[in-house]
Amino acid sequence: FSAVSVIRTKRDGGVLRDAEIDWVVDAFTRGEVADEQMAALAMAILLRGMTTAETARWTQAMISSGERLDLTGLPRPTVDKHSTGGVGDKITLPLAPLVAACGAAVPQLSGRGLGHTGGTLDKLEAIPGWRASLGRDEFRTQLADVGAVICAPGGSLAPADHKLYALRDVTGTVESVPLIASSIMSKKIATGTQALVLDVKVGSGAFMKSVPAARELARAMVELGTAHGVRTVALLTNMDTPLGYAVGNGVEVAESVAVLAGGGPADVVELTVTLAREMLTAVGLPDADPAAALADGRAMDVWRRMIRAQGGDPDAPLPAAAETEQIRAAADGVVSQVDAFAIGEAAWRLGAGRARKEHPVSAAAGVLLHRRVGDPVRVGDALCELRTDDPATLPAARAVAAAAFQVGSEPPAPSLVIERVT
Ligand code: URA
Repeated sequence: FSAVSVIRTKRDGGVLRDAEIDWVVDAFTRGEVADEQMAALAMAILLRGMTTAETARWTQAMISSGERLDLTGLPRPTVDKHSTGGVGDKITLPLAPLVAACGAAVPQLSGRGLGHTGGTLDKLEAIPGWRASLGRDEFRTQLADVGAVICAPGGSLAPADHKLYALRDVTGTVESVPLIASSIMSKKIATGTQALVLDVKVGSGAFMKSVPAARELARAMVELGTAHGVRTVALLTNMDTPLGYAVGNGVEVAESVAVLAGGGPADVVELTVTLAREMLTAVGLPDADPAAALADGRAMDVWRRMIRAQGGDPDAPLPAAAETEQIRAAADGVVSQVDAFAIGEAAWRLGAGRARKEHPVSAAAGVLLHRRVGDPVRVGDALCELRTDDPATLPAARAVAAAAFQVGSEPPAPSLVIERVT
């Protein structure tokens, strides 16, 4: 095989043979196919697409580049969740302990934020002492004892994806359904979970801006999971407006704890409970009652054990920002839009996100909404609060956050869950 012939085949719209896919993924992982060759192939795939069979083989090759964890022998069924990323999407934080409280084990290997979307690990690192890295034995012991683990993936899972994703990120080749589906699913299948629920975000704050695009991605991922023996279901959910009131790191932990205490914003509770039901049904626990486990404190008990098991102090105060500023309404009316992308960008500028992978994030930075879609406002009312450690970030964040809000007449109530894909 040669990298150039594989690139040419895809460039000209051909279908790659199984052996070509196996070879190119393996040779790239070993460094024999150069980054610039893989980048050219990724661009050809983005422009020409891949057939269902090619995508399945590509996914298998990425899984085979590393190890597949063996989670058999645990006392509970395993079920994982993946979100394609949004603004204010802290759902994993209350969801993993909730599902564990209802009898399943949740092996949640999570990521960090890049661009305007936050990362679960960045949020949890706002908790003093909490650590994202676990050894393999610690991972398994915690999964058996506590029932929920949220941690960083070790380097042994789908290393081909790790390398390829970094390359796609800097070569304009992220937005390809077969590449996104194979990237996400290779990592999820390699964790060894029995079942998987996908939250595919649609809207301004999401990767996928339209329902048809999100549906295509959801179908591709469900098909890949099912073909690998993982019971997979996807929900398409709205990401035109942030989830909940809190966007950032520590501020999202606080909102998650409010949900675990039986309160919290209605949309965060609704999505958490809906995803929990899907996860529990997928592993044969359809009679579990996640709403009751939030109300009676069982989910909170698991959260506290989960945080402590990873060195965190669930009672420690979360970091406070050095500077805060209110954005105020310029007109009377009803809030008709709070744009997710703009709020995500404001939080990112304030220091909650990073511009480069190696940059640190601020635990205290973010945006706290005071008004959401449908709320009445009067001139001068606070629409949101900006929080940062670095006052130099305020002018740019202020402009972006103010433009996120539109005040008009009564808006339609957006529905949170748009569609279910099986
Ligand atoms: N998340 C991933 O893990 N991979 C992609 O390609 C896109 C989002």
